Amino acid sequence: MRDMDYCTLLKIASQAAVKAGKFLAHSKKVDRAVHFESRHDVKIRADKQSEKVVLDILRKRTGLPVLSEEAGLLGTSPDPLMWIVDPIDGTLNFQRQIPLCCISIGLWRKAEPVLGVIYDFYRSELFSGIVSQGAWLNGVPIKVSRTASKEKAVLFSGFPEGANLTSGHVRSILKGIQSYRKVRWIGSAALSLAYVACGRADAYHERDIMLWDVAGGIPIVLGAGGKSQYQKNRRANSYNVFAANKRLKSF
Ligand code: IPD
Repeated sequence: MRDMDYCTLLKIASQAAVKAGKFLAHSKKVDRAVHFESRHDVKIRADKQSEKVVLDILRKRTGLPVLSEEAGLLGTSPDPLMWIVDPIDGTLNFQRQIPLCCISIGLWRKAEPVLGVIYDFYRSELFSGIVSQGAWLNGVPIKVSRTASKEKAVLFSGFPEGANLTSGHVRSILKGIQSYRKVRWIGSAALSLAYVACGRADAYHERDIMLWDVAGGIPIVLGAGGKSQYQKNRRANSYNVFAANKRLKSF
């Protein structure tokens, strides 16, 4: 099963995302019941239903290990490649029937992004990308925007579930976003990155975001000619991320 080329792996990830997305968008068996909640997060049964569809395909057809939001780390392999899966990014949106959510699958080699797939199942938009090779929306090549200044740029951001929402911290975030023309919080980090990749947004920034929320989107932004900066935080799998076209400097 090893030694598959990246195009084959991208095809398999796309098939997994589309199959799970069709289930979430159309099946009567989708279960939106909450099975876990914390102060700023909910987990619903559909997260696990979607995860099962995705993991069955990825595990059976590639044999590579997977880190997934619900299931954690599955499998080991001498191969440094690993799938990183968010079976529903924008879970709260999905639960409340706000159509801003997606399935996100990334393939990383150790700490380096390789390729990614994001499927917006309410719009049938499949974003995909391979680092240094290209990025596509439903098979058509996409590119990041050419916006060169923050004054003209649209920034997408969010408050992650573990966000520090103390006044001082929120004030520092507000200070950072003031220079942008517009800011959008759509509740899905993955979809925000997909929008940077195709030029609908110019930049994305979030602190303390979990790796599975951004692992599919970062390689798509890079494949579309953009850049990304990510620093690891102390909490496992948590990062500060800035992704944008190459003309915009850091956040
Ligand atoms: C959430 C979304 C949101 C981000 C949160 C994430 P989930 O992912 O990506 O944009 O701000 O931090 O938890 O929980 O819906 O997969």
